[in-house]
Amino acid sequence: MATIALLHGPNLNLLGTREPTIYGSMTLEKIEQKIREHAGATHEVRALQSNHEGALIDFIHTAREWADGIVINPGAFTHYSYALRDAIAAVKLPTVEVHLSNIHTREAFRHTSVIVPVCIGQVCGFGWRSYLLGIQALLDYLNDQAQG
Ligand code: DQA
Repeated sequence: MATIALLHGPNLNLLGTREPTIYGSMTLEKIEQKIREHAGATHEVRALQSNHEGALIDFIHTAREWADGIVINPGAFTHYSYALRDAIAAVKLPTVEVHLSNIHTREAFRHTSVIVPVCIGQVCGFGWRSYLLGIQALLDYLNDQAQG
């Protein structure tokens, strides 16, 4: 049984109505329900959505006390938040970055992630399923680590 810190960055509270041709029509609540159906039976998922960089950083700091790993969609912070990147590096929890859209096929400013260098990897482009793939990747990683 693993405990996962699940973070959603700015504007992701608007999923469902926000640019549905890019992000799909599923609400964040529904995505979290899917995640809990997928991982919730055997694992604990503690989630936070915030539009504020500091709140996300505070949550990452607390996760040091209780989480085995982090799955984060940093939203636009992906592209410029060195503070978020430093928080992930500081707590040293294995972290997977996820995005609904394929950031590499979109505007040039989205092609760079300042977060991914401190992550085990990145999943993007699979809509809400990116979250499930990201969580599965983290659980497999944790399992491998536990087996040495
Ligand atoms: C996003 C991609 C980011 O570029 C954007 O700012 C978001 C959503 C995604 O999930 O595709 O807010 O992280």
